[in-house]
Amino acid sequence: MKNFLITGGAGFIGANFVHHLLAHHPDYQVVVYDKLTYAGNLNNLADVSDDPRYTFIRGDICDAATVARVIQEQRIDTIVNFAAETHVDRSILDPDAFIQTDVYGTYVLLEAARRFGLERYHQISTDEVYGHVPAGHSSLESDPVAPRSPYAASKTSGDLLVQAYWITYTLPVTISRGSNNIGPYQYPEKVVPLFVTNALEGKPLPVYGDGKQMRDYQWVLDHCQGIDRVLHAGALGETYNIGTGQEIENLTMVEILLDELAAPRSLIQHVEDRPGHDRRYSVNIDKLRGLGWAPQHDCEAAIRQTVRWYVANEWWWRPIKAGDFREYYERMYGNRKVLEPQGEKPAAG
Ligand code: NAD
Ligand code: DAU
Repeated sequence: MKNFLITGGAGFIGANFVHHLLAHHPDYQVVVYDKLTYAGNLNNLADVSDDPRYTFIRGDICDAATVARVIQEQRIDTIVNFAAETHVDRSILDPDAFIQTDVYGTYVLLEAARRFGLERYHQISTDEVYGHVPAGHSSLESDPVAPRSPYAASKTSGDLLVQAYWITYTLPVTISRGSNNIGPYQYPEKVVPLFVTNALEGKPLPVYGDGKQMRDYQWVLDHCQGIDRVLHAGALGETYNIGTGQEIENLTMVEILLDELAAPRSLIQHVEDRPGHDRRYSVNIDKLRGLGWAPQHDCEAAIRQTVRWYVANEWWWRPIKAGDFREYYERMYGNRKVLEPQGEKPAAG
């Protein structure tokens, strides 16, 4: 395991993982293979661009011929697949690209890994494959999958293909299922960067429904450390959950975020809910803890640290919000029904 193909490495988590690999494994070569969709951004990799161990190649994981050529030319021995369409709301508006990339693209990479006899194929998956998790339970890796959005269904399909390649061809695979990541370089369609940047712009924060949905917000570099642990200590054919092991209500996340910014709660605006919105995700992380990994940040620390990054890095997010993003924002939120205020707790002090 030395020559890595990091698909989707110009996106949020992929870019953080590239930083992690180069910082912690001086003898690894890293090739980023990325289509540069709206979510891919070479600014995410600007500070490693001169590193001789790093190469960027623009390409689509659905393009089997180019994937094969890159694997041969770059002598790839390990694929870590981050490439995906990732935003639930976009999957509701237009599922097509999700099926292409998250399902067919995964198949293309698995076939290439099989054909060239790679040492490892690692699939980056999500806790959304478990669907809504009732109170009192945290998803185990052995739980049945029950995806409920087109995004979650496409990611689940990818996981099932990976498992099939292990069972049928003994392809050396592993899967990790992460909870909500937050931190540097997250595209501002996702809730935490959207809300921080909206607050900095003095715009409302559109909370879906009552805001009592629960998510496990984890610091992205804790997730990257967990993926590294699975790659180096995980058992072939196995799946590992990665998160903080604690989940909080969205409204609590918003309150922490506003407190960190010293911004008023009056920015909160309840709006019409997301269709099929999963009420609660919760992952049991004992299996990965058993390999010696532990998260270094709880949800609150992750949120506060993320807020500080966006405050300090306007150069990164302002051009995004001033570009095509505006059209997306108008489409998603422009005509969305605003709900009655729902009695938030007043700010402390
Ligand atoms: P992102 O949307 O920020 O980045 C996705 C990257 O994939 C972009 O650089 C994009 O250009 C690239 N890409 C998309 N389609 C491609 C294709 N056909 N070929 C090559 N590249 C393509 O995503 P992210 O939030 O960094 O998520 C990365 C992975 O982690 C995804 O597989 C996602 O499902 C998974 N995941 C994300 C989270 C989260 O909270 N963001 C949590 C758990 C799992
Ligand atoms: O759980 C892991 C998943 O987390 C990843 O697999 C996905 O790629 C990633 O997008 C994320 O999915 P979510 O749907 O949980 O993330 P999002 O940031 O879109 O929303 C988080 C919560 O905030 C969710 O309950 C919906 C809510 N929300 C979101 C947006 C964008 C709002 O209330 N208002 C918003 O404007």
